[in-house]
Amino acid sequence: MILVVGATGHLGGEICRRLAAQGKSVGAMVRSTSDPTKLDALKALGVTLIQGDLTDRGSLDAACQGIATVISTASTSYSVKPDVLGVDHAGQLSLVDAAKAAGVSHLVYVSFSGSFTTDSPLINAKRAVEQRLKQSGMPYTIVRSSFFMEAMFSPTAGFDYPNAKVMIYGAGVNKISWISIPDVAQFVVESVDNLAARNATLEIGGPEALSPLEVVKIFEATVGRTFEVQHLPEEVIQMQKKQATDPLQQGFAGMMLEYAKGSVVDMKETLQAFPVKLTSVKDYARRTVNASVQ
Ligand SMILES: NC(=O)c1ccc[n+]([C@@H]2O[C@H](COP(=O)([O-])OP(=O)(O)OC[C@H]3O[C@@H](n4cnc5c(N)ncnc54)[C@H](OP(=O)(O)O)[C@@H]3O)[C@@H](O)[C@H]2O)c1
Repeated sequence: MILVVGATGHLGGEICRRLAAQGKSVGAMVRSTSDPTKLDALKALGVTLIQGDLTDRGSLDAACQGIATVISTASTSYSVKPDVLGVDHAGQLSLVDAAKAAGVSHLVYVSFSGSFTTDSPLINAKRAVEQRLKQSGMPYTIVRSSFFMEAMFSPTAGFDYPNAKVMIYGAGVNKISWISIPDVAQFVVESVDNLAARNATLEIGGPEALSPLEVVKIFEATVGRTFEVQHLPEEVIQMQKKQATDPLQQGFAGMMLEYAKGSVVDMKETLQAFPVKLTSVKDYARRTVNASVQ
């Protein structure tokens, strides 16, 4: 069985759908607080619900029994109860230890692009888990992803295309290889059986690198309106990071600095080993704008 930790999330849910469609035996780690509609959706796929929590080592030991592959996408960045240090960092380290102790034969971990180097709790957590995984001796795949289109081109991230208002972090001229969540899910699913993914770190991004200002132009053309664009200068983000008192705010400021810096991923070699059809920003904009007006 493949255990998906983060199965009720955007990425984990998509991974479960794709694995179930392949007829794979899938277990989803869920919590008593998980959204019941998401649990129903997982059950409808034929996925087995397994109780567990990254902050409870005993539950991880139990959940990993008899599991061949663990996939972890879990994070508390968008949670109502964020706990970057307890879950994203310590909890994910515990999962690696529990999987190793239970004799799991492969762990696939979703991380951030290697270009993300800002000293911040979210990025530091990812790198610490990557290191623990590599040192564990357990076969691993680290899927280092660029920024998700679904997360970044949304009103919560300041990209309010329905109201034609956008907040850009920094000057908006540095390019990013934005990637769509279903494409990330497909790389993760392919990693399960593709031997090229064993003991490998995959840097993944979308089909083209575009600056935030270029993305705005694409959305303007799709929506048919000119957007009001504001900028949050990099010096202000640096200051926010310095003054932030909690790890999540420090983590978000770190991500905004990475966005301002840009992150380009060359996909040529990776696509040869993992032939995933990547979604362009233009196609993504057309799809989401059409869906929002229906
Ligand atoms: N956003 C980006 O641009 C970006 C870029 C690269 C990589 N990533 C990474 O991609 C991954 C997936 O993101 P996403 O958007 O799918 O996240 P998401 O929708 O917020 O899902 C988070 C998942 O983590 C689970 N979780 C939270 N606390 C937990 C705990 N204590 N124990 C067990 N599970 C717990 C949640 O379960 P409940 O439903 O029970 O709360 C949920 O299933 C994350 O690791 C993120 O860091 C994101």
